[in-house]
Amino acid sequence: MQTRPMIDLHCHILPGMDDGSPDVETSLAMLRRQAEQGIGAVCVTPHYYADQNSISTFCERRATALEKLRAALPDGNLPEMIPAAEVAFFSGISERGGLERLCIRDTKTLMLEMPFTEWNDFQIEEVSALVLDRGLHVVLVHPERFCGSKNNVWRLKELAELPVAFQVNAGTLIRWRTRKLGLKLLQETQYPLLGSDCHNLTTRPPNLAEGRGVVARKLGEAFLMKMDQSAAGLIGPAAEKVVP
Ligand SMILES: [Fe+2]
Repeated sequence: MQTRPMIDLHCHILPGMDDGSPDVETSLAMLRRQAEQGIGAVCVTPHYYADQNSISTFCERRATALEKLRAALPDGNLPEMIPAAEVAFFSGISERGGLERLCIRDTKTLMLEMPFTEWNDFQIEEVSALVLDRGLHVVLVHPERFCGSKNNVWRLKELAELPVAFQVNAGTLIRWRTRKLGLKLLQETQYPLLGSDCHNLTTRPPNLAEGRGVVARKLGEAFLMKMDQSAAGLIGPAAEKVVP
């Protein structure tokens, strides 16, 4: 029986906000599926692209979508929704004001999507500055998707030392072809995290419970507990204590 709080850190569940849920009905169905899996809270993480929206415009759009969805919520136990963002890396990010508004609600936890290219020194320095100069708790989302090059694999090892949290997608663990890589990355970081990165009900559905099952079987219940503790700290007031 699940007794620890289950958190899905990465969901594209807000209606009409990005390439995730297109409408309120789909969002509600996704939330119901998460509730069936025993998930108590979800971070809503629409994509943030600096060249498309200002931070203010993005936050206004996110608040409107969240309000629309909350207004349609039926009575009953659906997961709590916590505003956040999946922030695409951009040049100059470490000096951009107002990044805290993109962090998971009331924390300094920034979900960061690195570029789908070969990473260079400059980009790694920017991530370092976010952590060491800005004092943000950086969560690299789906690091497994950047491991196509040896250079990035090596740089991920560097980033893990900072420290930076790695959030692996549940689907990576579920698919046997990518499972080994996902498990390796979870063991490489001091702050292993899991998210569904769900976008819809079909091709990228809410699948956190299945991914957690793989962690429990392959890495053990104690490891899963460590992941839950990391996640709880990163979304709550205790975040300061979890990631130095
Ligand atoms: Fe995502």
